Amino acid sequence: MTRIGIIGGSGFAGGSLIQLLCFHPDIELTFISSRKWVGKFIHTQIPILRGISKLKFELPKIENIAEKCDLVFTAVPHKTAQEIVPNLVDHGLKVIDLSADFRLRKIEPYNEYYGEHSHPEMLKEAVYGMPELHRDEIKNAKLVAVPGCQAASAIYALAPLIKNNMIDPLKIIVDSKTGSSGSGAIATESSHHPIRANSIRPYKLTGHRHTAEIEQELGNLANGTDVKIGFSAHAVNLTRGILGTAYTFPLNDKMPEERDIIKAYRTFYRGEKFVRFMRLATGVFRLPDPKLIAGSNYADVSFEIDTHINRIVSLCALDNLIKGTAGNAIQSMNIMLGLKEETALEFPGLYPY
Ligand SMILES: NC(=O)c1ccc[n+]([C@@H]2O[C@H](COP(=O)([O-])OP(=O)(O)OC[C@H]3O[C@@H](n4cnc5c(N)ncnc54)[C@H](OP(=O)(O)O)[C@@H]3O)[C@@H](O)[C@H]2O)c1
Repeated sequence: MTRIGIIGGSGFAGGSLIQLLCFHPDIELTFISSRKWVGKFIHTQIPILRGISKLKFELPKIENIAEKCDLVFTAVPHKTAQEIVPNLVDHGLKVIDLSADFRLRKIEPYNEYYGEHSHPEMLKEAVYGMPELHRDEIKNAKLVAVPGCQAASAIYALAPLIKNNMIDPLKIIVDSKTGSSGSGAIATESSHHPIRANSIRPYKLTGHRHTAEIEQELGNLANGTDVKIGFSAHAVNLTRGILGTAYTFPLNDKMPEERDIIKAYRTFYRGEKFVRFMRLATGVFRLPDPKLIAGSNYADVSFEIDTHINRIVSLCALDNLIKGTAGNAIQSMNIMLGLKEETALEFPGLYPY
């Protein structure tokens, strides 16, 4: 059994890892950190695990972690991760980091969006942890950087269009709507329930940090062609879930045939269990909806052609805490450990939710 540790187990992302890993048959959870709740049972912070796990939170001391674990997830804020991860790697541990600190291959966009990096030399060692794009690299990775949740939604929506040169790579607008758990377990003034509930708050219309990783990954798919994203984020009245809607325009104003776009999506996601292309003619849920993927590792994608102004609207719904972080992290872990990729991830969510 591979021994697994989690640094940041009291947070929402770390807590989601624990919820899924408690039911993983091929690993053993041996270490979970919280500085604030050290010595307490993990169900004090993740109450649904009462009667399911007897693990207690411990302090994140490197010697203890190195002794008890083979692979560690770091589910801590960006900037904090870059102080912890190099030490874990130096101790021979495999690491899957959920923060933004190792997602970018180049230091310039990191500095632009996040400020100075204390370990820029580690960027080239990390693999972007999106299994559908980087499965082979993840297999042998020592350090995997899990995609940002809103970035993942935008990339899943756009990848087939970019890969097949169907859209203008310099004119892409992403309108992202996200639930409250995306901002973590500690309430702030803006995330306080009476302030955030019943609102659609445009909180980052320009300059969103996920822009850099979306451009990086779509740029790779476009064989290095420059990709530019105008990304705008809205906080909506959901606890979990993201809907990313991308407004794009056909390359050279030449609208592809609808059947060719359908083929592009089907081909790109062929064999990908966790990305579902939706093409339904009838019913309430014809298009991706965060309600349908809450609690699951599925991302739903689709598109429509708007002949009125010659655009393609593509979209993706996913759960920020599962396919948007802990699920992709565990999918990557399964790949790294040579396990069945779907293990512990097949739960379809709850309906109705
Ligand atoms: N929430 C999401 O939907 C989501 C989606 C994608 C990615 N992520 C990323 O996942 C990471 C965690 O996010 P979150 O939403 O779970 O945040 P969170 O709920 O605020 O949790 C943060 C965790 O980090 C721990 N921590 C903070 N500073 C630390 C330090 N110096 N040393 C050790 N542990 C420390 C905290 O534990 P103690 O203070 O108890 O030690 C806590 O468990 C972030 O990088 C975030 O960007 C989150």
